[in-house]
Amino acid sequence: MSENSNGIVRVWCDGCYDMVHFGHANSLRQAKALGDYLIVGIHTDEEITRHKGPPVFTEQERYKMVRGIKWVNEVVEGAPYITTLETLDKYNCDFCVHGDDITMTADGVDTYHLVKAAGRYKEVKRTAGVSTTDVVGRMLLMTRQHFRQGPQEYEVGLEGSSALGLDSRARSPWTGCSQFLPTTQKIIQFSEGKEPKPGDKVVYVAGAFDVFHVGHLDFLEQVRNEGDFLIVGLHTDPAVNRYKGSNYPIMNLHERVLSVLACKYVSEVVIGAPYAVTEELMSHFHVDMVCHGQTSIMPDCDGSDPYAVPKKLGKFKLIDSHNTMTTEKIVDRIIRHRLEFETRNYKKEQKEVALLEAMERCKLVAKS
Ligand code: CTP
Ligand code: C5P
Repeated sequence: MSENSNGIVRVWCDGCYDMVHFGHANSLRQAKALGDYLIVGIHTDEEITRHKGPPVFTEQERYKMVRGIKWVNEVVEGAPYITTLETLDKYNCDFCVHGDDITMTADGVDTYHLVKAAGRYKEVKRTAGVSTTDVVGRMLLMTRQHFRQGPQEYEVGLEGSSALGLDSRARSPWTGCSQFLPTTQKIIQFSEGKEPKPGDKVVYVAGAFDVFHVGHLDFLEQVRNEGDFLIVGLHTDPAVNRYKGSNYPIMNLHERVLSVLACKYVSEVVIGAPYAVTEELMSHFHVDMVCHGQTSIMPDCDGSDPYAVPKKLGKFKLIDSHNTMTTEKIVDRIIRHRLEFETRNYKKEQKEVALLEAMERCKLVAKS
């Protein structure tokens, strides 16, 4: 595909980007690697509701979340559901990139048929084992299989989407796959791989960062303004479960690592950080300041304050991001609209299964 006159390859991606997860981020990472400048078009709540049912996050939340992903240069609000050549030309994009799953309108039309026909479409590999459908399933069913410790330590619930009323014999390979396999390669691809420069002010925060959301994003943006190099310590799954209870965390440690690494304000992540911020941790990472947001600070197992050390050293600051979103509020939204989400998930997978069967039939006809 030809480059723009200044030699810059401009890439277009579009989608719903609901409950933005590391699968979305990974598709944007791959898309960016195919060019130089990445523009992401995001559909409105109205468009998504018409074609596949109501989104969990509002359009304003979805726009903000995608703007927070480090490979994104620009977001176009209210992009049309069907990608047209006019849209690509309007934003001066060379081609459009999408994952290797099929997206259809409510009438079953491939939303990329126009750009495919014009040869202005490229495909990247969809990240197996993560989908909005699966995350919604974990929330609704309170399953715990995603915990890293396995069933011997925690009771095992029903498998996510099969208990959503989906026929397990007719699962789609796209939204139906429900196990993400983390690799070191994925972490390397998501990581900045940079060290703090001499003189950089290093800021440290710790938490669950479960189902990475706008509250986390606003908090990290403010914290980043406090220094030059931001390290996020992620608590282990059992630690999060100790202070949050129920089936939390919804996303396991490896999944949370990738979601946080995809955020443009984050420089480095500690995978399974100690709950208490110790002197050893602070000197190991040369931490100049430790921050916490407006959520309550849960005591450590022995009842002590996990921030006692940085407080004593005069290196602790509370940050007010003026955003009251929490993971629990997302779960509440989903539970309140349970029926609509179940129907939406069910319909999406059934459409994919029907399409696959039709594709198989075409192959058989071609062979005979
Ligand atoms: N995507 C991906 N890997 C995933 C999920 C989504 O690569 N596990 C990609 C899609 O292929 C698409 C982009 O992310 O290119 C935006 O996806 P979106 O429109 O939000 O679609 P969904 O496929 O509906 O996402 P989900 O299944 O999670 O609801
Ligand atoms: O609750 P969790 O451990 O995921 O929070 C991680 C960090 O983000 C904490 O410092 C918390 O106070 C902050 N946060 C925030 N505003 C929100 C949600 C979380 O400042 N709405």
